[in-house]
Amino acid sequence: MSEVARRITASAPGGIGNIGPALDVLGCAVAGARDEITVAWRDEPGVEVADAGHPDLPRDAARHTAALAAAAVLRRAGAKHGLTLWCRKGLPLSGGQGGSAASAVAGAVATNALLGNPLGTDALLASCLDAESAVAGRHLDNIAASLLGGIVLVRTLEPIEVIRLAVPTGLILVLAHPAQRLMTLDSRRALPEQVRRADVIQQIGNASAMVAACYTGDVALFGRAIDDRIAEPARAPLLPGFLAAKRAARDAGAYGVSISGAGPSAFAVVADDKIAHAVATAMRDAYVAAGLECATRVTRVDREGAIVHEK
Ligand code: HSE
Repeated sequence: MSEVARRITASAPGGIGNIGPALDVLGCAVAGARDEITVAWRDEPGVEVADAGHPDLPRDAARHTAALAAAAVLRRAGAKHGLTLWCRKGLPLSGGQGGSAASAVAGAVATNALLGNPLGTDALLASCLDAESAVAGRHLDNIAASLLGGIVLVRTLEPIEVIRLAVPTGLILVLAHPAQRLMTLDSRRALPEQVRRADVIQQIGNASAMVAACYTGDVALFGRAIDDRIAEPARAPLLPGFLAAKRAARDAGAYGVSISGAGPSAFAVVADDKIAHAVATAMRDAYVAAGLECATRVTRVDREGAIVHEK
């Protein structure tokens, strides 16, 4: 092989898809947990998964989102090489925190770096979209947030047009992860085919207000606008404890609460550290009262996105 033999590791953050009302449109990267993918050349063509990252994840490269994204990058770059891939999961499986998107992004970025970075942002997004479409459905909100960091707006998939938004400086996020797994594809099946005009109008108002709040830094407006009339009512029945946790978080002072991505995680928006910890406790207690253990974290928007760690 002509390239200098080497391996590269990249990591990517999880995120909150939809950020409430903007289904498949808004997403934000969340600081803290990351998935990490290492890739190295191998002599045979194709992608081999040496470590799937979790006993419940497939070692079949046709079903592992990082391997699918790596293969898509090789294809788009016209590379004939084969790769071995190792995955370390920092994000929960089927947790609604953008874990499969983070693996896809880290896999794509590591592979692109190994090739000398032939692909630009849109081609990386398209490669990850190929991977996620096979595993979790065709949407870019989590992928774009994980790759770019910050808060993103996905205007269109064809052509891919992603806009990075300003991040309100005072924005604090509380993530609650109840002990439940929900496959994104199953949660997407619950979405309604048709919605009432009044709900669409309210939804557009809310999503638009969130974009405005990003630029004015108005965390209270950002949180108030997290009022999802379309996905949340359809998905809440799949999520034991969610409505109680939402009520508890509101009572504890959260500006807004909704499902994180396709669930089961929920998130709350606050602007004060002390309130954030009270909200986290209230959400955890509500899930526990509903019979589910729950992990919470108080965090912020990740601004870095995907990172290459080793050359
Ligand atoms: N936008 C996606 C959904 C996020 O709500 O289904 C989950 O990956």
